[in-house]
Formats: sequence, C-alpha cells, structure tokens
Amino acid sequence: MSDPARFLNAFAQALAAMALYRDQHPARERAVDLAYQQLQDLQSDTPRPLFTFLGDEVVFGQIPLRELKAWDCGKRLAQAGIQRLEFEDRVGRDEFVGFLDEVLARLTLSAISTEARQMRRSSIRFGAVGLKGETDTAPEPLPTATIAFSLGEEADTLRWLQDEVQTKGTVPLLEAEAVVRSLAVAMHGGGGRQIMLPLLQLKEFDQYTTTHSMNVAVLSMALAEFLGLSTTDVRSFGIAGLLHDIGKIKIPLDVLTKPGKLTDEERALMNEHPAAGARLLLEVEEDLDLAVVVAYEHHIMINGGGYPVLHYARDCHHASKLVHVCDVYDALRTRRPYREAWSFEKTLGYLAERSGLEFEPELCAAFVRMMRQWEPHVALVADERAPVAAPAPSGAAKSEQAGVSLGP
Ligand SMILES: [Fe+2]
Ligand SMILES: [Fe+2]
Repeated sequence: MSDPARFLNAFAQALAAMALYRDQHPARERAVDLAYQQLQDLQSDTPRPLFTFLGDEVVFGQIPLRELKAWDCGKRLAQAGIQRLEFEDRVGRDEFVGFLDEVLARLTLSAISTEARQMRRSSIRFGAVGLKGETDTAPEPLPTATIAFSLGEEADTLRWLQDEVQTKGTVPLLEAEAVVRSLAVAMHGGGGRQIMLPLLQLKEFDQYTTTHSMNVAVLSMALAEFLGLSTTDVRSFGIAGLLHDIGKIKIPLDVLTKPGKLTDEERALMNEHPAAGARLLLEVEEDLDLAVVVAYEHHIMINGGGYPVLHYARDCHHASKLVHVCDVYDALRTRRPYREAWSFEKTLGYLAERSGLEFEPELCAAFVRMMRQWEPHVALVADERAPVAAPAPSGAAKSEQAGVSLGP
C-alpha cells in the first residue's frame, strides 16, 4: 500500500478510536500515534500532501488512489463538507489531535452550516472544493471560516438522549460526549483565535431542560477555560454541565412548567432531582464521577443552604460550585412560566450579591469577569428544531405571578 493510502487508513482508524474511547485511553492514544507517524512518513516524501475526496474517488495531489475505491471514509468526509484536506507544513501532535477532534465533530454532529464549510488551522486546511472542481497543484488559499451556528443537531441529540434516559433508564455517554465535543468546536469556530459562546434561546417552556442543559455546558466549559484548566478538564466540566439536571426527567412536565408556586409536595419532588440524577449517572458503567458529584451538589450553597440537605457541613467539589454559578446565571437569563428573563446587569448584580453566601467568591468573581469580557462573543441561537409544545398551561403568559422564584 502506498504511503498516502496508509496514512488515510490510519487517519480513519484514529477517528474511529477517538469516537469510541475517552481521552488518554491507551487504544485511542495508540491509534492517534500511528496516524501521526504515518503523516510524518508521508511528509518526508511529500511535504505538502493534498487529498481531495470526491464521491467514490480519493485523489492524492493529482493522482487518484485506486486502492481506496471502496474506502467509505472519503465519502463521509465529503458529506461532512471536508472535500479537501491539505497539510501545509509539519504539524505538532497536539495540533493534529485538535484537527482530528474537529473532523470528528463534523462527522458526528456538524456544528457548521452547509454554507460555511471552510475552515483553516495554522498548517492544516480543510474545506470544500471550489465550484469549478479544479485540483490545481497550487490551490487558492481557503478563506478563514465564518461559521453560522444552528446547534440544531446538538439539541436534537440531547432531546434523544433525555428520551433514552426516560424510557430505558440508561445514559448514552458517547452521544453526550459528542454533543460536548461539538459545542467545544462551535466555541472555537473562528479557528481557535477567538472564543464564541453559542447559547440557545428558549422557544417553548417544555424545552427548558434541553436548552438550559446545553447552555450550562457551554458556560461551564467557558469558565473552566477562562480559569486556565486543561482541555480534558474543560470537556469533563462540559459533560457535567450537560448532565447536571438529568434527574429532572423524573419530574412530570406539568410540575416543571407550572406557572404558579409549587405545592410542598411538588417542591419536594423538584428537590429530588439532584439525587435522582446522581443515581442515574452512577449506573453508567464508564467513569462519570465528576458528573455524578455535580448532579448531586449543584444546588448546594456554600453557606450550607440549598438542597439536598447535607447532614454534615462539607465543602462541595470545585466543579459543582462552578456549574452552580453557570446554572443560576442561565436560569435567571431565561424566561420562565412564572417570570420574565432577567437582564444581563440584573443577573450579574444578583450573582455578586450572593457571592460568599450561595456562590464561591472566587468562582463568582471569575464568572462575572468572564461574562463582562466575553459578552460580545455571545451568539444567541434560536432552537429552530424544538418541537412545538401542546397549549401552554393556563396563566403561563402571566409573568411574576409567583413573584421572583429561582428554580434553576
Ligand atoms: Fe438543577
Ligand atoms: Fe439547572
């Protein structure tokens, strides 16, 4: 087999391993190492390898690779908008892994609209082939991507995931990871130079848990990144944020969307969601410790208030305290059946006021700083695919009916 074909095979295997295994899993590392090694070998002969994927055909430079006729990965790449792949220079392993991550995100859940399928990394380029279909030796430089977010596929996947949890009682972890990976890619859509905060806007009250969970995942990853945590930690905080309210699937929708004050019984049911979520996540075979802890602790205040009530005062996990701030921010910024959405300033004011009581002061201050700095990078996205709800519960339109009620 020729070097280019060997590289493409190893590349496809690395993508498969990354979809199957978590960060730092030996099988994943091995597959990535192998693909990286094949790329180095290839570049020792061809410093700037260029691949084109067109239907059944894989072209290397100008030469079709006939041995890859039946290789279906090329077709999948082309469908995901990657019709051309070019390595301009030697790439570092980290850069290569980041690139694989982006390709995988496109293959699993494309965060990128069909019109804007071009992207540029420092020395790896990939994107659509020009309309004329020319594969000149000196292709025109691809423009820097402008990415339009829809987040539709991510929201759909999360709805499906919540459904699975409800009907089967299991949490499909690979899909949760795929959503988080895709959100992470969307956050760095501009080629990694500038962060974006894609936040979903609530369409129907019954979609709140989906919209809110996506937003808490994005905000938690953003804050983790703002604090300088590693990529692996940022992703696990994202998973924890995405799944923090998973226990709510046990609560009837009419309680979740009730416009008025909850009865004692309903409140007790609502307050069970942290423990219920932790139990659900504990049953997932893979190691989800952080998500379990965050699901359990995200309503506990640093002064010991909140719920579930701890019998002995103890410190909560850093991730729980971080998700807690993001959770309350998103809840307040969103219109609920019993009140209107709060403004940006009012919400930040509330967080600052509750710093030291409800929120860890350092995390709270960091969050406020981050939002002030990154607010211009917030992209509000309508959840176009949200199913239209049954008629809203009576009185749903009346805001402030129950006064200010905080129920993230
Ligand atoms: Fe919650
Ligand atoms: Fe929440």
